[in-house]
This record gives sequence, C-alpha cells and structure tokens, in this order.
Amino acid sequence: MVEKTILVEKKKEMKEEIVDKKLLEKASQKLEEKRDEKVIVLKVEEKVEEKKQINKEISIEELPGVGAATAEKLREAGFDSMLSIAVASPGELTEIAGLTEATARKIINTARHKMDMGFVSGNELLEKRRNIGKISTSSKAFDALLMGGIETNGITEVYGEFGSSKTQIGHQLAVNAQLPKEQGGVEGMVCYIDSEGTARPERIKSMAESLKLDPIKILNNIKFIRAFNSDHQMLIINKIEDLIKNEKLPIKLVVVDSLMSHFRSEYVGRGTLSDRQQKLNKHMHDLLKLAETYNLAVYLTNQVMANPAIFFGDPTTPVGGNIVAHASSVRIYVRKGKKGTRVARVIDAPHIPDSECAFRITEEGIRDIE
Ligand code: GTP
Ligand code: MG
Repeated sequence: MVEKTILVEKKKEMKEEIVDKKLLEKASQKLEEKRDEKVIVLKVEEKVEEKKQINKEISIEELPGVGAATAEKLREAGFDSMLSIAVASPGELTEIAGLTEATARKIINTARHKMDMGFVSGNELLEKRRNIGKISTSSKAFDALLMGGIETNGITEVYGEFGSSKTQIGHQLAVNAQLPKEQGGVEGMVCYIDSEGTARPERIKSMAESLKLDPIKILNNIKFIRAFNSDHQMLIINKIEDLIKNEKLPIKLVVVDSLMSHFRSEYVGRGTLSDRQQKLNKHMHDLLKLAETYNLAVYLTNQVMANPAIFFGDPTTPVGGNIVAHASSVRIYVRKGKKGTRVARVIDAPHIPDSECAFRITEEGIRDIE
C-alpha cells in the first residue's frame, strides 16, 4: 500500500518534472524566438538608420528651413544636391527660392558642414587634368601660345577692339570643337550664344569646307541662340545645362559673343554699377560651374575700354572688372598687327607664360602667317 503510494507520488513527480521540462523547453524556445525577433528588429532598425543616413546625404529636404515647396524651387533652379547648395551664395538662394538671407546662410552652412568637401589627392587632380580637352584655333602659333588650344573645364576670355578677330576665333572654335582629338578637337557639340547678332552660319560653312568637313553636319552640331538682353543671356546658361543633363547633348564648347554688350547697355551710370556687377557675378559663376561640371570649354569675347591710368603701351582694358577677370582661367588680348595680321597676347594664365604670337584671318578661317 505504502509502496503503491510512493509509486504514485514518484509518477506524479516524474510527470511534473516532464511538464516542467516541457514548460522550460517551451519557455526557452520562446526566449530564443524573442531573441531572434529582437535581432531581426534590431537589424531592421539598423537598415532604416542606414537608409536615413544615405538620405541625409542626398536629400536637400533635410536642411533646416527647406520644406517640400522650397526644395522644389531649389531643384528647379538646379540646386539639387548638397554640393550645389554648399557652393552657392546666399544671394542666389534668396533670389531663386525666395528665402530670407539668414535662412539661406543657414542652409548653405549646414550643407557645407554635412558634405564631403571634395578634397582630392594630387593623383586624382592629375587624372582630372588628363581629361581636359584642348580645342585648336587652326593656327599652330596660336595653339602653341595656348599650350595646345583653348581648354575645357574653364573659361577662356578674348578681349580686344572692334575687328580684332574675337568673333572669327569663336566661329573657328565652333567648327574645330567637333573634330576628333588627334585633329585638335574634343568631338563635342557647340552652343553659340550670340548677343550682338554677328554669328554667320555661312562663315562656319566655308571654314568647315576648307577642312574637308561636311558643312551640314557641322552646322547641325552648333546650337545658335540669340540673346536679347542680359536676363535672357543668363537664362540660356540654365537651358544649356538642361540640354546636357536631360537631352543628353554632348556639348563641349559654349561660345558667348559677347559677354558684356547687354550688361553695358542696360546698366548705365554709376548708381547701377553694383547691381550690374552682382548679376554679372552670378553669370560668371554659372558659366564656370557649367565648364567644371561638364568638362566643357567656355569661350567668351569681351570689349575694351580706354584706360586713362595707363600712359605707356596699349591703353585698353577689358570691361567687366575683377569679376570677369577672376572667373576667366585664361585671358587673351587680341589686336590688329602689321599688314592685316592679328596679334594675340596671353595675360596672366596660371600655366602659360605671358607671351604673344601673330596669326591671320583668311578665307579659310584662322591660319598661321606664312
Ligand atoms: P567686334 O565684334 O566688332 O568688336 O570685332 P571682332 O573682334 O569680333 O572682329 P571679327 O572677329 O568680326 O573680325 C573682323 C575681321 O575678320 C574683319 O576685319 C575681317 O578682316 C575678318 N573677316 C571676317 N569675316 C571674314 C571672311 O569671311 N573672310 C575673310 N578673309 N576675313 C574675314
Ligand atoms: Mg565680334
């Protein structure tokens, strides 16, 4: 009897033990599941955080004071990345997105703070320099003066008095930019901004024919546009970016002939000078950005004014002041020489010693003096 009770007790204990064991197993399984769940949750959280981090790098909405509407306006104006905002001036953002100057400053500072400022190693810079193309002028002497031709990735400005050949050089470059590299070109299309109404397709045609090129093809690859006033001229630069970015046109040369004619005639008198310089600053900034972003060449022509401060030598100075001087990578002064020749002189270029050469303008285009 006693034995039976003990047996029953034991069985009960064993049963309880089994139940306990099962419970324990179940509990630990649950714990394991929970732990897995937690790991998954953590992993998901990590991924979300990662995504947020990536978004932080690319989304301009993350900047203080930039809501959906402002972001839209900024994007429309081409400020679609941290970099473009970081390098903008408060004035540009104020004008374009209707921000107060204080907000614009804050946005720019935050963008600068957040982004990788783009330090590059010497080797990377060398690589970038290797990708720079040179467009021949069709005169060996002129090309030699320019160490190969006019460069992409920067602005080349040619200034001189009327008839000195600024427009003719522009026409020649518009043809030559389309040539393959071995022949002095960059195999690109051209955008020709004509603010004086002096662009001549028939001149392009004869220049192309003299190089045994198909004039129809050459003219087809040059997009001519007449700029009617300075605002229009500035707007065209944004349009060019559109053509490159959205319509994928391989534009490698932008000619602006001439840079200052509208600015000069629209802003007359001392009181308007600072307004003019402010706009001109944006224009030059846009051109430089275009040149550097798309590795294209910008060729500007500029007028001269008499400089009464110079008593000896040539008393002519390019118009536009320091703003134009600073943005131009290479400045060339052209003047009429003996017997109908032209003389080009390089003025303060970082990689070219100050020196000059002579060339001539023929029926075929720009050529060497025989
Ligand atoms: P502005 O725009 O007036 O300031 O002058 P610019 O520096 O642009 O002068 P441009 O390039 O128009 O050069 C004019 C010179 O080029 C003329 O004096 C002509 O000698 C020469 N030229 C222009 N077209 C032709 C042409 O079809 N054949 C030849 N042989 N020469 C030309
Ligand atoms: Mg001209």
